[in-house]
Amino acid sequence: MLIDKFGRTIDYLRISVTDRCNLRCSYCIPKGFNDFETPDHWLTFDELMRVVRAFVRLGTKRFRLTGGEPLVRKNLTDLVYRIKKIDEVEDLSITTNGTLLTSHAKLLFEAGLDRLNISLDSLNRKNIEDITGLDCLEQVMEGLRTAKQLGFHKIKINMVVLPDKNMAEIERMLEFCIEHGFILCLIEVMPMGKTGQNMTTVSLQPIIQELRKHYDLHSTMKIIGNGPARYWETSTGNVCLGLITPLSQHFCATCNRVRLSVDGTLYMCLGQDNSFVLRPLLRNHCSDKELDQAIQEAIELKPKEHDFLKQPNKIMRIMSKTGG
Ligand code: GTP
Ligand code: 5AD
Ligand code: SF4
Repeated sequence: MLIDKFGRTIDYLRISVTDRCNLRCSYCIPKGFNDFETPDHWLTFDELMRVVRAFVRLGTKRFRLTGGEPLVRKNLTDLVYRIKKIDEVEDLSITTNGTLLTSHAKLLFEAGLDRLNISLDSLNRKNIEDITGLDCLEQVMEGLRTAKQLGFHKIKINMVVLPDKNMAEIERMLEFCIEHGFILCLIEVMPMGKTGQNMTTVSLQPIIQELRKHYDLHSTMKIIGNGPARYWETSTGNVCLGLITPLSQHFCATCNRVRLSVDGTLYMCLGQDNSFVLRPLLRNHCSDKELDQAIQEAIELKPKEHDFLKQPNKIMRIMSKTGG
């Protein structure tokens, strides 16, 4: 079992399989940015599997593949299949922007992927183009339809709340999610990299009060997934809304996760730079015991909490490097 200095059990690993993406969301990758990891630094699937197995030995049963956009990594389905073949793995999920989902969904489903979280900030075509830099709403909607038809359950829609762009659409998004059986996860934008730091953050607390005027929503202790969302359900017990509030009500005390970036660095917290580089060990063919020890050492570096409020200009790393 991995337990950090503050007594938190770390049993959820988020693996960023690429820092690249086919979109340029306004709060994430800056336009014209080209400082991506070079392919010789990318952990191979064999190296990734060594890290996954090490985390499994250390008690982790839940994994998520992220990016950048994970589906731009070639043959990702093979990795899904290999991770799901490990008996101890209880939950394997992907966070994707949905643009490439139509052609990948069936293979992912057959490979055993358990869940999908899909980023979609608007249902308005022009807004989506403004936010992501690509006119891709129809592609994402097609991906969503395909995933639902295949039988993926508990699909989440991640919506980063942007005051000047999509605030007025929250009710419409909630309606859409209720209609289709999705869970809408609203996210407070985090000041990561220049892009994130340029954004106006909005607290989700007044938004939930506003929504409750029109919807019969009750907070629930039900937990859907492994992330930090706090959930709301309708009176019929349908969980349809999650709030991710790193700024207005942070959840650091219950943090259960670390992140692996594509170059083999373990990041201990989104809002801190504490990290541990695993790639040289892996490339020098370390033993399983050495790898396990390195991960245990890394977990010792996990900080108590992020500093987004106290030092909003601190983290220059963009979100696509660690995958949210
Ligand atoms: P579930 O397993 O479905 O609960 O997923 P998740 O919420 O862990 O995954 P997802 O990739 O959908 O994450 C949604 C968003 O939550 C991320 O993009 C981040 O914005 C935010 N988030 C997740 N983990 C952390 C964290 O440790 N700290 C902070 N500040 N934000 C986080
Ligand atoms: N703040 C909050 N969420 C962000 N994401 C990307 N950048 C930021 C940011 N600065 C979200 C995306 C996606 C998830 C992986 O991370 O919208 O849903
Ligand atoms: Fe790509 Fe996701 Fe970043 Fe948007 S938020 S640019 S979809 S990695």
